[in-house]
Amino acid sequence: MEIYLKKEDIESYLINQEENIKNMIDNLDSSWPHYNAVKKLLEETMLEIKRKDIHCNAVLSSTKHERKIEKYVNWVEVYRLANYHFSKYTSSNTSYSEGLFSTLLALNSMYIHNKKIKDIGIIGCGPGRSVLDFSLAYPDATIYGLDYSLVSLVLARNIVSTNNKNIEIIRRDDEVVLDKVESFNRTNCKWGMFDLTKSNLNEKFDIVVCSNVINLMPNHKDAINKIYDMIKPNGYLIYADLTGWRLDRKKEQQLLSDKKAIKNSFENVGFETIECFDGGPYIEKENKDNFTFYKQTYYIGRKVK
Ligand SMILES: C[S@@+](CC[C@H](N)C(=O)[O-])C[C@H]1O[C@@H](n2cnc3c(N)ncnc32)[C@H](O)[C@@H]1O
Repeated sequence: MEIYLKKEDIESYLINQEENIKNMIDNLDSSWPHYNAVKKLLEETMLEIKRKDIHCNAVLSSTKHERKIEKYVNWVEVYRLANYHFSKYTSSNTSYSEGLFSTLLALNSMYIHNKKIKDIGIIGCGPGRSVLDFSLAYPDATIYGLDYSLVSLVLARNIVSTNNKNIEIIRRDDEVVLDKVESFNRTNCKWGMFDLTKSNLNEKFDIVVCSNVINLMPNHKDAINKIYDMIKPNGYLIYADLTGWRLDRKKEQQLLSDKKAIKNSFENVGFETIECFDGGPYIEKENKDNFTFYKQTYYIGRKVK
C-alpha cells in the first residue's frame, strides 16, 4: 500500500486510522456470525499501519473532524459499499447499481478510449469497483485506487488485485449473509492512502474518475481545484455525484447543486465540457421489496491548457 499524502499529514492520518480501527476491534461482538470476517479485515488493516513503521506523536484531537468521511472508515459502511460495488459477483448474482459503473465506462469508451492512456486515478475508490473496471478497460495502464479509508483500501485490494480467491463480503439482507467474491488478480493497480482535501498529486493522471465523493467534501470548490491539478494537460475527468438534495448544508457544500451548477463550476476552473447530464439512478436497497432511487448527475470534461 502506498501513501499519497503530504509528509506533514502522514502521522496524523495513520494515528486517526489506527485509533478508529482499535475502537472497531474493541467493539466487535464475538457472538456475531460475521465476527471472524470483520476481525480479519480490521487486523489486516492494522498490519498495514504497523508496516509503515512510522512513530506517531501527533495529538489525535487535531485530526478528528466533523467531516462526513469519518463514516467511511467504518467496516459496516465499507461492506455496504462492497455489496453495492460487487454483489453481481457474489452468489446472489444481482446488482442494482450497474447503472453508475456502466455509465462511467460508457463515457470513457465514447470520448477517451482510443487515446494513449498511462495513468488513471480513481479518487475515493471505496471498495474498488471502478478500479477493477478501468483496469480491465486499460490493461496496459496503471490504475490508482485512492481513498481516505484504509479499511476500504485493504478490502478493495483484496478483491481487485490479489489471487486470494474467496474474499468474504458481509451482506445484510433479511438476514446477515457471509458471501464470497472471487478475487480478480489485476496486476495493473496501485492502492494509496489519500485525502482529497489535502492532495498534492499534481498533473499525475491522464484520466481521473470520481464518483460520489465531492458531494462529501467540506468545500466543493477546493475539491474541484484539487482534482483539476491532479490531471495532466489535455487529460480527462469523468465525474458522477448526487446533487442538491440536502438543504441543511453549508454554502461551500452546495456548489454542485444541479447540472447547470456542475457544468459551470467545472468550466470555471478550466475544463471544457464534453457532456453533462442527469441520469442514474443510484439505487439503495431498503429491504427485499423496497428500493430508494436517487438521481445521479454525470459530467465528462477535458482539461484545457
Ligand atoms: C460514497 S463512497 C463512493 C465510493 C465509490 N466512488 C462509488 O461511487 O461507489 C465515498 C468514498 O470516498 C472516500 N472519501 C471521502 N472523503 C475522501 C477524501 N477526502 N479523500 C479521499 N477519499 C475520500 C470515502 O472513504 C469513500 O470510500
